[in-house]
Amino acid sequence: MKRLLNNMYRPVNPSPAALITSVDEKGKPNIITLGEVFNVSIKQPVIMGIAIRPATYSHYLIKKTGEYVINLTTSSLVEKVDLCGSVSGRNGIDKFAEFGLTPEASSFVKPPIIKECPVNIECRVAGIQTVGDHDLILGEVMAVHAEDDMIDEQGGLNLGRPGLLVYVTGNYWALGEKLGSHGFARRK
Ligand SMILES: Cc1cc2nc3c(=O)[nH]c(=O)nc-3n(C[C@H](O)[C@H](O)[C@H](O)COP(=O)(O)O)c2cc1C
Repeated sequence: MKRLLNNMYRPVNPSPAALITSVDEKGKPNIITLGEVFNVSIKQPVIMGIAIRPATYSHYLIKKTGEYVINLTTSSLVEKVDLCGSVSGRNGIDKFAEFGLTPEASSFVKPPIIKECPVNIECRVAGIQTVGDHDLILGEVMAVHAEDDMIDEQGGLNLGRPGLLVYVTGNYWALGEKLGSHGFARRK
Protein backbone atom coordinates (compact mmCIF):
# COMPACT_ATOMS: atom_id res chain seq x y z
CA MET A 1 0.00 0.00 0.00
CA LYS A 2 1.17 3.53 -0.74
CA ARG A 3 0.55 6.62 1.38
CA LEU A 4 0.95 10.34 0.75
CA LEU A 5 4.03 11.79 2.39
CA ASN A 6 3.77 14.48 5.04
CA ASN A 7 7.19 15.74 3.98
CA MET A 8 7.98 16.03 0.25
CA TYR A 9 11.61 17.09 0.81
CA ARG A 10 13.95 16.32 -2.12
CA PRO A 11 11.98 13.48 -3.71
CA VAL A 12 14.22 12.48 -6.68
CA ASN A 13 17.29 10.36 -5.88
CA PRO A 14 20.11 9.55 -6.37
CA SER A 15 22.12 12.49 -7.65
CA PRO A 16 25.86 12.98 -7.83
CA ALA A 17 27.70 13.88 -4.64
CA ALA A 18 29.85 16.36 -6.51
CA LEU A 19 32.59 18.79 -5.51
CA ILE A 20 32.29 22.19 -7.17
CA THR A 21 35.32 24.46 -7.32
CA SER A 22 35.30 28.24 -7.67
CA VAL A 23 37.83 31.03 -7.03
CA ASP A 24 37.91 34.47 -5.44
CA GLU A 25 39.20 37.62 -7.15
CA LYS A 26 42.79 36.69 -6.23
CA GLY A 27 42.44 33.15 -7.57
CA LYS A 28 42.17 31.39 -4.18
CA PRO A 29 40.01 28.32 -4.72
CA ASN A 30 37.08 27.07 -2.66
CA ILE A 31 35.14 23.78 -2.76
CA ILE A 32 31.46 23.08 -2.05
CA THR A 33 29.70 19.72 -2.00
CA LEU A 34 26.47 19.67 -4.02
CA GLY A 35 23.80 17.05 -4.43
CA GLU A 36 21.79 19.23 -6.80
CA VAL A 37 23.79 18.76 -10.00
CA PHE A 38 22.03 17.86 -13.25
CA ASN A 39 22.14 17.92 -17.04
CA VAL A 40 19.84 20.50 -18.63
CA SER A 41 20.73 20.91 -22.33
CA ILE A 42 22.53 17.72 -23.26
CA LYS A 43 24.11 18.25 -26.70
CA GLN A 44 23.94 21.62 -28.48
CA PRO A 45 24.96 23.41 -26.32
CA VAL A 46 25.83 21.33 -23.29
CA ILE A 47 24.41 23.12 -20.24
CA MET A 48 24.60 21.90 -16.66
CA GLY A 49 22.47 23.07 -13.77
CA ILE A 50 23.47 23.37 -10.14
CA ALA A 51 21.13 24.48 -7.36
CA ILE A 52 22.93 26.38 -4.66
CA ARG A 53 21.80 28.32 -1.59
CA PRO A 54 22.52 32.06 -1.87
CA ALA A 55 23.96 32.00 1.68
CA THR A 56 26.94 29.84 0.67
CA TYR A 57 30.36 31.34 -0.06
CA SER A 58 30.51 29.38 -3.31
CA HIS A 59 27.34 31.09 -4.53
CA TYR A 60 29.02 34.46 -3.94
CA LEU A 61 32.19 33.36 -5.76
CA ILE A 62 30.44 31.81 -8.76
CA LYS A 63 28.15 34.82 -9.19
CA LYS A 64 31.14 37.18 -8.97
CA THR A 65 33.53 35.33 -11.31
CA GLY A 66 31.08 33.50 -13.60
CA GLU A 67 33.02 30.23 -13.59
CA TYR A 68 33.06 26.89 -11.77
CA VAL A 69 34.12 23.27 -12.19
CA ILE A 70 31.94 20.25 -11.38
CA ASN A 71 34.15 17.41 -10.11
CA LEU A 72 32.51 13.97 -9.91
CA THR A 73 33.60 11.78 -7.02
CA THR A 74 34.16 8.15 -6.07
CA SER A 75 33.60 6.15 -2.89
CA SER A 76 37.23 6.62 -1.80
CA LEU A 77 36.54 10.37 -1.51
CA VAL A 78 33.42 10.08 0.64
CA GLU A 79 34.94 11.60 3.79
CA LYS A 80 36.39 14.55 1.89
CA VAL A 81 33.03 15.09 0.15
CA ASP A 82 31.30 15.16 3.51
CA LEU A 83 33.86 17.55 4.99
CA CYS A 84 33.71 19.99 2.04
CA GLY A 85 29.94 20.14 2.55
CA SER A 86 30.11 20.68 6.30
CA VAL A 87 32.24 23.81 6.56
CA SER A 88 32.21 27.15 4.75
CA GLY A 89 35.22 28.65 3.01
CA ARG A 90 33.95 32.11 3.86
CA ASN A 91 36.20 32.43 6.91
CA GLY A 92 39.39 31.71 5.01
CA ILE A 93 39.72 27.92 5.37
CA ASP A 94 41.58 26.35 2.43
CA LYS A 95 39.56 23.17 1.84
CA PHE A 96 42.18 21.79 -0.59
CA ALA A 97 44.92 21.94 2.05
CA GLU A 98 42.68 21.08 4.99
CA PHE A 99 41.08 17.99 3.43
CA GLY A 100 43.99 16.71 1.31
CA LEU A 101 42.78 17.44 -2.20
CA THR A 102 45.00 18.56 -5.08
CA PRO A 103 44.18 21.53 -7.35
CA GLU A 104 45.27 21.30 -10.98
CA ALA A 105 44.93 23.94 -13.71
CA SER A 106 41.76 23.83 -15.79
CA SER A 107 41.90 24.35 -19.55
CA PHE A 108 39.45 27.24 -20.00
CA VAL A 109 38.35 28.57 -16.59
CA LYS A 110 40.15 29.90 -13.52
CA PRO A 111 38.76 27.50 -10.87
CA PRO A 112 40.98 24.41 -10.65
CA ILE A 113 39.97 20.85 -11.34
CA ILE A 114 40.40 18.39 -8.45
CA LYS A 115 43.07 15.83 -9.36
CA GLU A 116 41.57 13.04 -7.22
CA CYS A 117 38.18 13.26 -9.01
CA PRO A 118 37.88 11.07 -12.15
CA VAL A 119 35.72 13.54 -14.10
CA ASN A 120 35.99 17.34 -14.15
CA ILE A 121 33.50 19.55 -16.01
CA GLU A 122 34.56 23.15 -16.67
CA CYS A 123 31.61 25.56 -16.79
CA ARG A 124 30.92 29.23 -17.53
CA VAL A 125 27.78 30.74 -16.04
CA ALA A 126 25.01 31.07 -18.62
CA GLY A 127 22.27 32.25 -16.27
CA ILE A 128 21.22 32.53 -12.64
CA GLN A 129 17.64 32.33 -11.49
CA THR A 130 16.14 32.19 -8.03
CA VAL A 131 13.90 29.15 -7.72
CA GLY A 132 12.36 28.81 -4.28
CA ASP A 133 14.98 28.22 -1.61
CA HIS A 134 17.94 27.78 -4.01
CA ASP A 135 19.38 29.64 -6.98
CA LEU A 136 19.54 27.67 -10.21
CA ILE A 137 22.90 28.36 -11.83
CA LEU A 138 23.14 27.27 -15.44
CA GLY A 139 26.62 26.66 -16.77
CA GLU A 140 27.77 26.15 -20.34
CA VAL A 141 30.27 23.30 -20.45
CA MET A 142 33.62 24.44 -21.84
CA ALA A 143 35.55 21.18 -21.39
CA VAL A 144 35.27 17.75 -19.75
CA HIS A 145 38.32 15.89 -18.41
CA ALA A 146 37.95 12.15 -17.72
CA GLU A 147 40.21 9.30 -16.71
CA ASP A 148 40.98 6.81 -19.49
CA ASP A 149 38.59 4.08 -18.33
CA MET A 150 35.71 6.55 -18.37
CA ILE A 151 36.05 7.44 -22.06
CA ASP A 152 34.26 5.41 -24.75
CA GLU A 153 35.46 4.62 -28.29
CA GLN A 154 33.81 7.76 -29.66
CA GLY A 155 35.65 9.96 -27.16
CA GLY A 156 32.56 10.50 -25.01
CA LEU A 157 31.98 9.93 -21.34
CA ASN A 158 31.21 6.41 -20.15
CA LEU A 159 30.76 6.35 -16.39
CA GLY A 160 30.78 2.59 -16.28
CA ARG A 161 33.19 2.27 -13.36
CA PRO A 162 31.69 0.96 -10.12
CA GLY A 163 32.17 3.13 -7.07
CA LEU A 164 30.93 6.43 -8.42
CA LEU A 165 29.66 8.35 -5.40
CA VAL A 166 26.00 9.38 -5.33
CA TYR A 167 23.84 11.15 -2.77
CA VAL A 168 20.52 9.69 -1.67
CA THR A 169 19.13 12.41 0.63
CA GLY A 170 21.19 12.18 3.78
CA ASN A 171 23.18 9.13 2.72
CA TYR A 172 26.11 8.39 0.44
CA TRP A 173 25.96 5.38 -1.87
CA ALA A 174 28.40 3.95 -4.40
CA LEU A 175 27.16 2.87 -7.82
CA GLY A 176 27.53 -0.88 -8.24
CA GLU A 177 26.13 -3.15 -10.90
CA LYS A 178 25.70 -2.17 -14.56
CA LEU A 179 22.42 -3.64 -15.89
CA GLY A 180 22.57 -2.75 -19.60
CA SER A 181 23.24 -0.03 -22.16
CA HIS A 182 20.77 2.32 -23.87
CA GLY A 183 18.75 0.25 -26.41
CA PHE A 184 19.93 -3.18 -25.23
CA ALA A 185 16.38 -4.44 -24.56
CA ARG A 186 15.23 -3.63 -28.10
CA ARG A 187 18.32 -5.22 -29.63
CA LYS A 188 17.74 -8.54 -27.84
C1 LIG B 1 26.11 15.60 0.42
C2 LIG B 1 25.86 17.10 0.46
C3 LIG B 1 25.09 17.68 -0.52
C4 LIG B 1 24.86 19.06 -0.51
N1 LIG B 1 24.12 19.62 -1.51
C5 LIG B 1 23.95 20.95 -1.55
C6 LIG B 1 23.26 21.55 -2.64
O1 LIG B 1 22.86 20.89 -3.61
N2 LIG B 1 23.09 22.90 -2.62
C7 LIG B 1 23.60 23.70 -1.61
O2 LIG B 1 23.43 24.92 -1.67
N3 LIG B 1 24.27 23.15 -0.58
C8 LIG B 1 24.47 21.80 -0.52
N4 LIG B 1 25.17 21.24 0.51
C9 LIG B 1 25.67 22.10 1.60
C10 LIG B 1 26.98 22.83 1.27
O3 LIG B 1 27.94 21.92 0.75
C11 LIG B 1 27.53 23.52 2.56
O4 LIG B 1 26.62 24.51 2.94
C12 LIG B 1 28.94 24.05 2.39
O5 LIG B 1 29.54 24.11 3.67
C13 LIG B 1 29.01 25.44 1.78
O6 LIG B 1 30.38 25.76 1.57
P1 LIG B 1 30.87 27.23 1.12
O7 LIG B 1 30.20 28.24 2.04
O8 LIG B 1 32.37 27.19 1.31
O9 LIG B 1 30.47 27.45 -0.29
C14 LIG B 1 25.41 19.87 0.53
C15 LIG B 1 26.20 19.27 1.52
C16 LIG B 1 26.43 17.89 1.49
C17 LIG B 1 27.30 17.27 2.55
